[in-house]
Amino acid sequence: MGTTDSRLAVLASGKGSNFKALLNHIRAGTLPNVQITLLITNTPKAGAIDIAQAYDTPVVIISPRNFATRREYDSEINHVLLDHRIDLVILAGYMRIIGDPILTTYRGRILNIHPSLLPNFPGLHAPKQALDRGVSETGCTVHFVDETLDGGPVILQRRVPILPNDTVDTLTKRIQAEEHAAYAEAIRKVLANEIDI
Ligand code: GRF
Repeated sequence: MGTTDSRLAVLASGKGSNFKALLNHIRAGTLPNVQITLLITNTPKAGAIDIAQAYDTPVVIISPRNFATRREYDSEINHVLLDHRIDLVILAGYMRIIGDPILTTYRGRILNIHPSLLPNFPGLHAPKQALDRGVSETGCTVHFVDETLDGGPVILQRRVPILPNDTVDTLTKRIQAEEHAAYAEAIRKVLANEIDI
């Protein structure tokens, strides 16, 4: 790990497969000059914590219950990000809306991944939304985070065809396989300044 590595914080609430994929890209050298400095989670139940421990990545659990308002909660996260000199904030299944002061401090440096071809199917259960709508393809999107829900500028998308016998489960698995490559690619592009907002 070089001293000039970009310092990423991953924010996750769930099982953390995208977090793990990024750690594996870093190990494999396919996401060079990057370190995941810490995992931040809102819940001690996040599977991502076990992954962090397996990869010797520090974990900070910040429970919203300990804060009176969303702003106070996000202020605490903002402090942690600044304390650790984080360059990029990576949302990977983080089930809370990001607000100020994080948005202002890290504008253009907060990324999210979403399991649809945005602007189609924002919000929860995107693979199910796609199946229910009967579309022939869906995919995943990496985008910058702004005030809108799943509406910030798109960095890149990958397409996934919907097969005749797809269930939410089979479709979600194929989308996630694409996510695991897409997120590393998007981070490389952002760090190489290849993306204009
Ligand atoms: C991913 O499908 C991502 O698109 C969405 O949340 C899911 C997180 O999965 N934002 P995981 O915890 O990374 O496995």
